[in-house]
Amino acid sequence: MKKLPIEVFSKWAETGKDIGMQEGHKLSVDQMIKFATKNLKRFSFIDAGCGNGWVVRDISKFKECKSATGIDGSFEMIKKAKNMDKLNSYFCEDLLKWKPKKKVDLVHSMEVFYYFKNPMQLIKHIFNYWLKKNSRLIIGIDFYKENKVSHSWPEKTGVSIMELKSENTWKRYFKESGFKNVESWRVGKKENWGGTLIITGNK
Ligand SMILES: C[S@@+](CC[C@H](N)C(=O)[O-])C[C@H]1O[C@@H](n2cnc3c(N)ncnc32)[C@H](O)[C@@H]1O
Repeated sequence: MKKLPIEVFSKWAETGKDIGMQEGHKLSVDQMIKFATKNLKRFSFIDAGCGNGWVVRDISKFKECKSATGIDGSFEMIKKAKNMDKLNSYFCEDLLKWKPKKKVDLVHSMEVFYYFKNPMQLIKHIFNYWLKKNSRLIIGIDFYKENKVSHSWPEKTGVSIMELKSENTWKRYFKESGFKNVESWRVGKKENWGGTLIITGNK
């Protein structure tokens, strides 16, 4: 029997697999953050599906970062994040239901959006309720149609919701949700690995 994404990742947090995930994602995330922050003077930041909160902790050290917040549906992940960091804010919430009190300049997310039955609903929700004018959403995903090696992951991980979409479909979701200047590219491509697919756009 397959399990819901949050159940699986709570187990990962309990058994320390969140650290391996953090190490595996770091190269792609560093490039995403470099791209997304290059022209920002002062910015507020949310990590959607922050896991143990490592990106929130990293980005809060930037002198331009005025606030950093992490949201994750897994209680175990958020417990870890809060234990490691008393400075920034973490919330255990479903991304589709949560809204920040104040809209932000930058929303980042790594390896999260395909765990939703209807990913465009989440993209629209973030566009409408999380982002200010002149802001950015940037997401990275390793599970997508062109990355053939990733197709076996639903069986391997036993996760019940994993939506396999093409690069063009992800870009279309961003455009149809209202984003402008939508771009995509891949990071860390090599033989038998399509790389992390990055998609970004401005509100
Ligand atoms: C592959 S992990 C990535 C974690 C983190 N971004 C990282 O790079 O280490 C996916 C995360 O998305 C979270 N997640 C999945 N579905 C969610 C939902 N509906 N609401 C909130 N978080 C969710 C999981 O709990 C998990 O921590």
